Amino acid sequence: MNDFHKSVLLREVLEGLRVKENEKYIDATLGGGGHSLEILKKGGKVLGIDCDSEAIEFVSGRWKIETKKLSIAEENLILVRGNFRDIDKIAHLNNFDLVSGIIFDLGVSSHQIDEPTRGFSFQNEGPLDMRMDQELGVKALDLIRILTKGELCEIFTKFGEESRAWEISDAIVRTRSIRPIETTSDLVRVITEALKVKRLNSDFSKADLSKKVFQGLRIIVNDELNALEEALPKAVKLLKQGGRIGVISFHSLEDRIVKRSFIEFEKKGLGKIITKKPITPSSEELKMNKRVRSAKLRIFETRSASPG
Ligand SMILES: C[S@@+](CC[C@H](N)C(=O)[O-])C[C@H]1O[C@@H](n2cnc3c(N)ncnc32)[C@H](O)[C@@H]1O
Repeated sequence: MNDFHKSVLLREVLEGLRVKENEKYIDATLGGGGHSLEILKKGGKVLGIDCDSEAIEFVSGRWKIETKKLSIAEENLILVRGNFRDIDKIAHLNNFDLVSGIIFDLGVSSHQIDEPTRGFSFQNEGPLDMRMDQELGVKALDLIRILTKGELCEIFTKFGEESRAWEISDAIVRTRSIRPIETTSDLVRVITEALKVKRLNSDFSKADLSKKVFQGLRIIVNDELNALEEALPKAVKLLKQGGRIGVISFHSLEDRIVKRSFIEFEKKGLGKIITKKPITPSSEELKMNKRVRSAKLRIFETRSASPG
Protein backbone atom coordinates (compact mmCIF):
# COMPACT_ATOMS: atom_id res chain seq x y z
CA MET A 1 0.00 0.00 0.00
CA ASN A 2 2.76 2.39 0.83
CA ASP A 3 6.09 3.73 2.11
CA PHE A 4 4.75 3.29 5.62
CA HIS A 5 5.55 -0.41 5.49
CA LYS A 6 6.46 -2.91 2.79
CA SER A 7 4.33 -5.98 3.46
CA VAL A 8 6.02 -9.32 3.97
CA LEU A 9 4.95 -12.67 2.46
CA LEU A 10 1.86 -11.04 0.94
CA ARG A 11 1.05 -13.73 -1.64
CA GLU A 12 1.79 -16.49 0.86
CA VAL A 13 -0.58 -14.98 3.43
CA LEU A 14 -3.42 -14.58 0.90
CA GLU A 15 -3.01 -18.14 -0.31
CA GLY A 16 -2.48 -19.46 3.20
CA LEU A 17 -5.68 -17.87 4.50
CA ARG A 18 -7.58 -18.85 1.31
CA VAL A 19 -9.24 -15.44 1.20
CA LYS A 20 -12.79 -15.48 -0.21
CA GLU A 21 -15.38 -12.87 -1.12
CA ASN A 22 -17.77 -11.71 1.62
CA GLU A 23 -15.93 -13.64 4.34
CA LYS A 24 -14.65 -11.90 7.47
CA TYR A 25 -10.96 -11.58 8.39
CA ILE A 26 -9.05 -10.02 11.24
CA ASP A 27 -5.74 -8.26 10.64
CA ALA A 28 -4.39 -8.17 14.20
CA THR A 29 -1.34 -6.08 13.21
CA LEU A 30 -2.60 -3.52 10.72
CA GLY A 31 0.63 -1.47 10.28
CA GLY A 32 0.43 0.22 6.86
CA GLY A 33 -2.57 -1.93 5.95
CA GLY A 34 -0.80 -3.93 3.23
CA HIS A 35 -2.23 -7.34 4.16
CA SER A 36 -5.66 -5.83 4.87
CA LEU A 37 -5.85 -4.10 1.52
CA GLU A 38 -5.11 -7.30 -0.41
CA ILE A 39 -7.83 -9.13 1.52
CA LEU A 40 -10.25 -6.27 0.79
CA LYS A 41 -9.35 -6.36 -2.92
CA LYS A 42 -10.39 -10.00 -2.95
CA GLY A 43 -13.81 -9.04 -1.57
CA GLY A 44 -13.14 -9.91 2.08
CA LYS A 45 -14.29 -7.82 5.05
CA VAL A 46 -11.58 -6.79 7.47
CA LEU A 47 -11.31 -5.80 11.10
CA GLY A 48 -7.89 -4.11 11.36
CA ILE A 49 -6.29 -3.74 14.79
CA ASP A 50 -3.16 -1.82 15.79
CA CYS A 51 -2.02 -0.38 19.08
CA ASP A 52 -0.19 2.46 17.31
CA SER A 53 -2.35 5.53 16.64
CA GLU A 54 -0.11 6.51 13.71
CA ALA A 55 -0.90 3.22 11.94
CA ILE A 56 -4.65 3.72 12.42
CA GLU A 57 -4.46 7.32 11.18
CA PHE A 58 -2.36 6.38 8.17
CA VAL A 59 -4.61 3.52 7.04
CA SER A 60 -7.80 5.46 7.61
CA GLY A 61 -6.47 8.26 5.35
CA ARG A 62 -5.34 5.82 2.66
CA TRP A 63 -8.56 3.86 2.88
CA LYS A 64 -10.64 6.91 1.90
CA ILE A 65 -8.57 7.16 -1.31
CA GLU A 66 -8.42 3.42 -2.03
CA THR A 67 -12.19 2.86 -1.65
CA LYS A 68 -12.85 5.32 -4.45
CA LYS A 69 -10.06 3.97 -6.66
CA LEU A 70 -11.10 0.35 -6.20
CA SER A 71 -14.85 0.87 -5.74
CA ILE A 72 -14.90 -1.10 -2.51
CA ALA A 73 -17.50 -0.23 0.13
CA GLU A 74 -15.90 1.86 2.87
CA GLU A 75 -17.59 -0.22 5.59
CA ASN A 76 -15.69 -3.35 4.48
CA LEU A 77 -12.81 -2.15 6.66
CA ILE A 78 -13.24 -1.44 10.37
CA LEU A 79 -10.25 0.06 12.18
CA VAL A 80 -9.69 -0.29 15.90
CA ARG A 81 -6.85 1.03 17.99
CA GLY A 82 -6.14 -1.63 20.56
CA ASN A 83 -3.81 -4.40 21.66
CA PHE A 84 -4.23 -7.80 20.01
CA ARG A 85 -4.05 -9.38 23.47
CA ASP A 86 -7.71 -8.19 23.65
CA ILE A 87 -8.59 -9.65 20.24
CA ASP A 88 -11.60 -11.51 21.68
CA LYS A 89 -13.20 -8.37 23.12
CA ILE A 90 -12.40 -6.22 20.07
CA ALA A 91 -13.80 -8.87 17.71
CA HIS A 92 -16.95 -9.27 19.78
CA LEU A 93 -17.64 -5.52 19.95
CA ASN A 94 -17.37 -5.31 16.16
CA ASN A 95 -19.36 -8.42 15.33
CA PHE A 96 -16.28 -10.27 14.07
CA ASP A 97 -16.49 -13.22 16.44
CA LEU A 98 -16.83 -15.88 13.75
CA VAL A 99 -14.23 -15.26 11.06
CA SER A 100 -12.57 -17.17 8.22
CA GLY A 101 -9.04 -16.00 8.83
CA ILE A 102 -6.74 -14.05 11.13
CA ILE A 103 -3.30 -12.69 10.35
CA PHE A 104 -0.63 -11.61 12.83
CA ASP A 105 2.43 -9.95 11.25
CA LEU A 106 4.51 -9.40 14.37
CA GLY A 107 7.03 -6.79 15.38
CA VAL A 108 7.43 -3.20 14.27
CA SER A 109 6.53 -1.52 10.99
CA SER A 110 9.11 0.21 8.76
CA HIS A 111 7.48 3.49 9.73
CA GLN A 112 8.14 2.82 13.41
CA ILE A 113 11.78 1.97 12.69
CA ASP A 114 12.40 4.77 10.20
CA GLU A 115 10.80 7.52 12.28
CA PRO A 116 13.62 8.61 14.65
CA THR A 117 11.22 10.12 17.20
CA ARG A 118 9.82 6.65 17.95
CA GLY A 119 13.20 5.58 19.29
CA PHE A 120 13.29 2.06 17.76
CA SER A 121 16.27 2.62 15.52
CA PHE A 122 19.85 2.05 16.50
CA GLN A 123 20.84 3.78 13.27
CA ASN A 124 19.12 7.14 13.84
CA GLU A 125 19.36 9.54 16.75
CA GLY A 126 16.10 9.73 18.71
CA PRO A 127 14.68 9.59 22.23
CA LEU A 128 14.85 6.18 23.95
CA ASP A 129 11.14 5.54 23.59
CA MET A 130 10.29 2.25 21.75
CA ARG A 131 6.59 2.24 22.63
CA MET A 132 4.39 0.91 19.82
CA ASP A 133 1.36 2.17 21.74
CA GLN A 134 2.04 5.82 22.58
CA GLU A 135 -0.19 5.52 25.66
CA LEU A 136 2.00 2.96 27.42
CA GLY A 137 3.50 4.25 30.65
CA VAL A 138 7.05 2.92 30.44
CA LYS A 139 9.61 3.86 27.79
CA ALA A 140 13.00 2.28 27.11
CA LEU A 141 14.50 5.33 28.78
CA ASP A 142 12.83 4.39 32.08
CA LEU A 143 14.31 0.87 31.93
CA ILE A 144 17.79 2.23 31.21
CA ARG A 145 17.47 4.73 34.07
CA ILE A 146 15.92 2.57 36.75
CA LEU A 147 16.71 -1.14 36.37
CA THR A 148 19.60 -2.74 38.23
CA LYS A 149 22.60 -4.20 36.48
CA GLY A 150 21.22 -7.70 37.05
CA GLU A 151 17.80 -6.82 35.66
CA LEU A 152 19.26 -5.20 32.55
CA CYS A 153 21.53 -8.20 32.05
CA GLU A 154 18.55 -10.55 32.26
CA ILE A 155 16.64 -8.58 29.61
CA PHE A 156 19.57 -8.46 27.19
CA THR A 157 20.30 -12.17 27.69
CA LYS A 158 16.76 -13.53 27.64
CA PHE A 159 15.06 -11.24 25.18
CA GLY A 160 18.01 -9.95 23.14
CA GLU A 161 19.92 -13.26 23.17
CA GLU A 162 23.04 -11.10 23.67
CA SER A 163 26.05 -13.11 24.85
CA ARG A 164 27.92 -10.10 26.29
CA ALA A 165 24.94 -8.79 28.26
CA TRP A 166 26.85 -8.47 31.53
CA GLU A 167 29.53 -6.18 30.08
CA ILE A 168 26.89 -4.00 28.45
CA SER A 169 24.75 -3.77 31.61
CA ASP A 170 27.84 -2.91 33.65
CA ALA A 171 28.75 -0.12 31.21
CA ILE A 172 25.19 1.28 31.32
CA VAL A 173 25.15 1.41 35.12
CA ARG A 174 28.62 3.01 35.26
CA THR A 175 27.82 5.56 32.56
CA ARG A 176 24.47 6.63 34.00
CA SER A 177 26.12 7.44 37.34
CA ILE A 178 28.26 10.02 35.47
CA ARG A 179 25.94 11.28 32.72
CA PRO A 180 22.40 10.50 31.54
CA ILE A 181 21.79 8.04 28.70
CA GLU A 182 18.89 9.69 26.93
CA THR A 183 18.99 8.97 23.24
CA THR A 184 19.39 5.96 20.97
CA SER A 185 22.83 7.27 19.97
CA ASP A 186 23.86 7.63 23.64
CA LEU A 187 22.98 3.98 24.16
CA VAL A 188 24.73 2.81 20.98
CA ARG A 189 27.86 4.66 22.17
CA VAL A 190 27.79 2.96 25.58
CA ILE A 191 27.36 -0.47 23.97
CA THR A 192 30.16 0.10 21.47
CA GLU A 193 32.51 1.28 24.20
CA ALA A 194 31.54 -1.61 26.47
CA LEU A 195 32.36 -4.12 23.78
CA LYS A 196 35.64 -2.29 23.17
CA VAL A 197 35.09 -2.34 19.48
CA LYS A 198 37.90 -0.61 17.70
CA ARG A 199 38.21 0.64 14.16
CA LEU A 200 34.62 0.16 13.14
CA ASN A 201 34.56 1.46 9.64
CA SER A 202 30.90 2.14 9.17
CA ASP A 203 28.02 3.41 11.25
CA PHE A 204 26.11 0.33 10.25
CA SER A 205 28.53 -2.10 11.87
CA LYS A 206 28.65 0.05 14.98
CA ALA A 207 24.88 0.23 15.17
CA ASP A 208 24.50 -3.44 14.33
CA LEU A 209 26.21 -4.35 17.59
CA SER A 210 23.28 -2.76 19.39
CA LYS A 211 20.61 -4.76 17.60
CA LYS A 212 20.16 -7.39 20.30
CA VAL A 213 20.07 -4.90 23.17
CA PHE A 214 17.44 -2.85 21.31
CA GLN A 215 15.43 -6.01 20.63
CA GLY A 216 15.47 -6.93 24.33
CA LEU A 217 14.33 -3.47 25.43
CA ARG A 218 11.60 -3.31 22.78
CA ILE A 219 10.17 -6.69 23.81
CA ILE A 220 9.94 -5.58 27.44
CA VAL A 221 8.58 -2.08 26.78
CA ASN A 222 5.75 -3.53 24.67
CA ASP A 223 5.36 -6.79 26.60
CA GLU A 224 5.46 -8.44 23.18
CA LEU A 225 5.86 -12.09 24.07
CA ASN A 226 3.13 -12.13 26.73
CA ALA A 227 0.73 -10.34 24.36
CA LEU A 228 1.36 -13.00 21.70
CA GLU A 229 1.03 -15.87 24.13
CA GLU A 230 -2.30 -14.49 25.39
CA ALA A 231 -3.67 -13.61 21.95
CA LEU A 232 -3.22 -16.90 20.07
CA PRO A 233 -5.62 -19.07 22.13
CA LYS A 234 -8.21 -16.27 21.98
CA ALA A 235 -7.74 -15.89 18.23
CA VAL A 236 -8.18 -19.57 17.46
CA LYS A 237 -11.55 -19.51 19.23
CA LEU A 238 -12.76 -16.76 16.88
CA LEU A 239 -12.31 -18.94 13.79
CA LYS A 240 -15.13 -20.67 11.95
CA GLN A 241 -14.77 -24.38 11.25
CA GLY A 242 -12.05 -24.72 8.63
CA GLY A 243 -10.85 -21.17 9.33
CA ARG A 244 -7.15 -20.33 9.32
CA ILE A 245 -4.77 -18.33 11.43
CA GLY A 246 -1.42 -17.19 10.03
CA VAL A 247 1.42 -15.77 12.09
CA ILE A 248 4.55 -14.12 10.69
CA SER A 249 7.36 -13.96 13.24
CA PHE A 250 10.79 -12.36 12.99
CA HIS A 251 12.88 -13.94 15.72
CA SER A 252 13.22 -17.26 17.47
CA LEU A 253 11.51 -16.16 20.70
CA GLU A 254 8.31 -15.30 18.82
CA ASP A 255 8.50 -18.30 16.53
CA ARG A 256 8.88 -20.65 19.50
CA ILE A 257 5.63 -19.33 21.01
CA VAL A 258 3.75 -19.72 17.71
CA LYS A 259 5.08 -23.24 17.14
CA ARG A 260 4.31 -24.35 20.70
CA SER A 261 0.82 -22.80 20.68
CA PHE A 262 -0.09 -24.52 17.39
CA ILE A 263 1.12 -27.89 18.73
CA GLU A 264 -1.01 -27.31 21.82
CA PHE A 265 -4.08 -26.49 19.68
CA GLU A 266 -3.55 -29.69 17.69
CA LYS A 267 -3.24 -31.75 20.89
CA LYS A 268 -6.54 -30.28 22.12
CA GLY A 269 -8.20 -31.41 18.87
CA LEU A 270 -8.89 -27.86 17.70
CA GLY A 271 -7.57 -28.54 14.20
CA LYS A 272 -4.34 -29.13 12.35
CA ILE A 273 -1.04 -27.44 11.61
CA ILE A 274 -0.85 -26.63 7.88
CA THR A 275 2.83 -25.66 7.83
CA LYS A 276 4.94 -28.54 9.15
CA LYS A 277 7.87 -26.26 8.34
CA PRO A 278 7.40 -22.49 8.33
CA ILE A 279 7.00 -20.66 5.02
CA THR A 280 9.90 -18.27 4.36
CA PRO A 281 10.29 -15.47 1.80
CA SER A 282 11.14 -16.32 -1.81
CA SER A 283 14.52 -15.32 -3.24
CA GLU A 284 12.77 -12.54 -5.25
CA GLU A 285 11.26 -11.08 -2.09
CA LEU A 286 14.60 -11.33 -0.31
CA LYS A 287 16.25 -9.40 -3.12
CA MET A 288 13.69 -6.60 -2.86
CA ASN A 289 13.44 -6.28 0.91
CA LYS A 290 16.29 -7.22 3.21
CA ARG A 291 14.13 -6.72 6.32
CA VAL A 292 12.29 -9.97 5.51
CA ARG A 293 15.37 -12.17 6.02
CA SER A 294 14.17 -13.76 9.24
CA ALA A 295 10.42 -13.87 8.48
CA LYS A 296 8.61 -17.16 9.13
CA LEU A 297 4.94 -17.81 8.43
CA ARG A 298 3.10 -20.59 10.27
CA ILE A 299 -0.52 -21.50 9.58
CA PHE A 300 -3.07 -23.42 11.63
CA GLU A 301 -6.52 -24.56 10.44
CA THR A 302 -9.47 -25.26 12.71
CA ARG A 303 -11.37 -28.52 12.47
CA SER A 304 -14.09 -28.71 9.80
CA ALA A 305 -17.58 -29.99 10.55
CA SER A 306 -17.57 -33.80 10.54
CA PRO A 307 -19.53 -35.21 7.60
CA GLY A 308 -23.11 -36.19 8.33
C1 LIG B 1 5.07 -5.57 10.93
S1 LIG B 1 3.86 -4.36 11.22
C2 LIG B 1 2.48 -4.92 10.28
C3 LIG B 1 2.53 -4.54 8.84
C4 LIG B 1 1.30 -4.85 8.04
N1 LIG B 1 1.02 -6.27 8.01
C5 LIG B 1 1.42 -4.31 6.63
O1 LIG B 1 1.41 -5.11 5.69
O2 LIG B 1 1.51 -3.08 6.46
C6 LIG B 1 3.37 -4.73 12.84
C7 LIG B 1 2.30 -3.78 13.40
O3 LIG B 1 1.71 -4.45 14.51
C8 LIG B 1 1.52 -3.55 15.55
N2 LIG B 1 1.53 -4.34 16.78
C9 LIG B 1 2.57 -5.03 17.32
N3 LIG B 1 2.20 -5.63 18.46
C10 LIG B 1 0.89 -5.33 18.63
C11 LIG B 1 -0.06 -5.67 19.64
N4 LIG B 1 0.26 -6.42 20.69
N5 LIG B 1 -1.32 -5.22 19.48
C12 LIG B 1 -1.67 -4.44 18.43
N6 LIG B 1 -0.80 -4.07 17.46
C13 LIG B 1 0.46 -4.52 17.57
C14 LIG B 1 2.65 -2.55 15.43
O4 LIG B 1 2.28 -1.32 16.01
C15 LIG B 1 2.84 -2.47 13.92
O5 LIG B 1 2.13 -1.40 13.37
